[in-house]
Amino acid sequence: MPELYYGGDYNPEQWSPEVWAEDMALMRRAGVNLATVGVFSWSSLEPEPGRYEFDWLDQVLDLLHGNGIRVNLATPTASPPPWFSLAHPDALPVTADGVRLLHGSRDTYCVCAPAYREAALGIARTLGERYGDHPALAMWHVHNEYGSTCYCDHVAGSFRTWLQRKYGDLAALNTAWLTAFWSQGYSAWEQVFPPRRTQYLPNPSQTLDFRRFLSDELLDAFREQRDVLRELSPGIPITTNFVFGGWVPVDHWRWSDEVDLVAIDHYPDSAGIEAEQQTAFGADLARAWGKGRWLLMEQAASGLHDHGRVQAKEPGRMTRNSLSHVARGSSGALFFQWRASRGGAERFHSGMVPHAGADSRAFEEIVEFGELLPKLAEADAAKVDAEVAILWDAESWWATDGPGLPSSEIDYLAAVRAAHRQLWNLGVGTDFAHPTSDLSAYKVVIVPSLYLVSDEAAEAVNRYAEGGGQLLVTSLSGIADANAQIRLGGYPGAFRELLGIRVEEFLPVGGTIELNNGAVGEGWSERVRLDGAEAVARYQGGTLDGLPAITRYRNAWYLSTWLRDPAYESLVEQVVRAAGVEPSGLPRGVEVITRTAGDSQYRFVLNHTTDEVSLPYGGLDLVRGETADKVSVAPGGWVVLRESVR
Ligand code: GAL
Repeated sequence: MPELYYGGDYNPEQWSPEVWAEDMALMRRAGVNLATVGVFSWSSLEPEPGRYEFDWLDQVLDLLHGNGIRVNLATPTASPPPWFSLAHPDALPVTADGVRLLHGSRDTYCVCAPAYREAALGIARTLGERYGDHPALAMWHVHNEYGSTCYCDHVAGSFRTWLQRKYGDLAALNTAWLTAFWSQGYSAWEQVFPPRRTQYLPNPSQTLDFRRFLSDELLDAFREQRDVLRELSPGIPITTNFVFGGWVPVDHWRWSDEVDLVAIDHYPDSAGIEAEQQTAFGADLARAWGKGRWLLMEQAASGLHDHGRVQAKEPGRMTRNSLSHVARGSSGALFFQWRASRGGAERFHSGMVPHAGADSRAFEEIVEFGELLPKLAEADAAKVDAEVAILWDAESWWATDGPGLPSSEIDYLAAVRAAHRQLWNLGVGTDFAHPTSDLSAYKVVIVPSLYLVSDEAAEAVNRYAEGGGQLLVTSLSGIADANAQIRLGGYPGAFRELLGIRVEEFLPVGGTIELNNGAVGEGWSERVRLDGAEAVARYQGGTLDGLPAITRYRNAWYLSTWLRDPAYESLVEQVVRAAGVEPSGLPRGVEVITRTAGDSQYRFVLNHTTDEVSLPYGGLDLVRGETADKVSVAPGGWVVLRESVR
């Protein structure tokens, strides 16, 4: 990759050719080098079945090419045109309640409908044939944010086929789903359905398998397009943009092996310092999926969603957010979208060119960032340093994303974010890892609320602990097996022995619960029995008075409550220090990300605070071109240094 990518979704079909001309001039001014074109352009490309209008796209690609801007060409299959819905009503998605949705928004398709699959492949092939050797083509962007769910009869049929492949016979399915509970035993495959709306609580194993099935089915749909495009334009990388959310039935670990480049869209759901913590979280996760190489495909140039309000990013924040991604390995920073739309559902979504136009503070910052980004390209090959890993698994999220759990407050994402946040606060570089992976390279592994643990994952974690690395397991880990059935004999079933404890009962808490070391937990507590481990802290007051809350057995720690932040941070600090990992010691809100390549170490320092900070870091300031042995970073500022570590 010669340079870091800079640009975003470009939707010229919403604008006149006069605006295109201005776009080219502004893109050049901003240093844009990649435009994602065509994401939702199906009805502009094929306004009637089989009648194509390519003139506009021909012109746009040529214009971009003429201006030195490369193209990330999308297949428009996330939004079939209205004519398609009417011609194939069976390809419209059906909700769990049986309501068939109509076009009028986006993503109104059923991935299992043969007509949809055929049409999607058809338009991908047509684009591949026409543009596969266009000189501007840098990358294919298949579809947009795979994640749609449908419960129709096509889906029921495909789900049954998937289940037949997985279980072989109904007896195995009945066992895996424990259908003896509530008389759900199946005696013919036709009786099995997607988890449509039912009278009361659904079967959790069925719901989980449905998510797994959808992930596989969507992946098949991706692969079909990918294979055709690969054949028509060999050597051009093919990706799709991963989106992140509890509703998304995509197992990103598995998908990551199928794309040429992992790409994510990232929109934090909070505007405060949490947005920075979430930015780091998403970027660390993407780096793990991409095995070090990935691209930020979308972020907002300005608006941060904050509980019903969209907050403009304050000056400098777009730059710091972008740098936070680049520091963590993204090969550039792209946005949704180039120019803020003047109509349509997302008319108030920010753009690199805001409604106010180029004569605006926001666009000035876009131009300034475009000037600095190329100066960081040499760091792209450097490996992000991390001695700590957090285990992440979509299946644990899916398995806890439903009713029937001991507390409605159980929140896998929040638990993983909380663990990551402590490390972020401490300034400790963090990777994510799949539970079955080889963890031996890490000095510390944190296992937050890993509810569902396959035998293979249990073995991997046990092996890691035996190897002597520090391990911190938090409540609700190791509870269920791969079928989402409870591991008996005491929680946390899969990790009981390595932790030297046995949890007899869960005791969700309405408010807070105190520990004898001054820490406060909330929402959750457990009756923990020591079985070799020692108590690091005990509950204080209430039924659990004097019983263990935090335990340690050699190198394996267990946390049985949802510790509030300052106390959680102290615990994580204790664990990382036990492994010889040093926190950065920087003031809260000042983050440093280090990367190493050969004898060069890169240090990205981002100051999210309102105070200037002076740091003892030296080296060459890659952007300003000066060498120093210490740096001052302005409030809201940043610096990227290269130092020789020989
Ligand atoms: C993404 C999506 C974009 C746009 C953006 C802003 O998830 O891919 O098309 O909708 O969000 O909301």
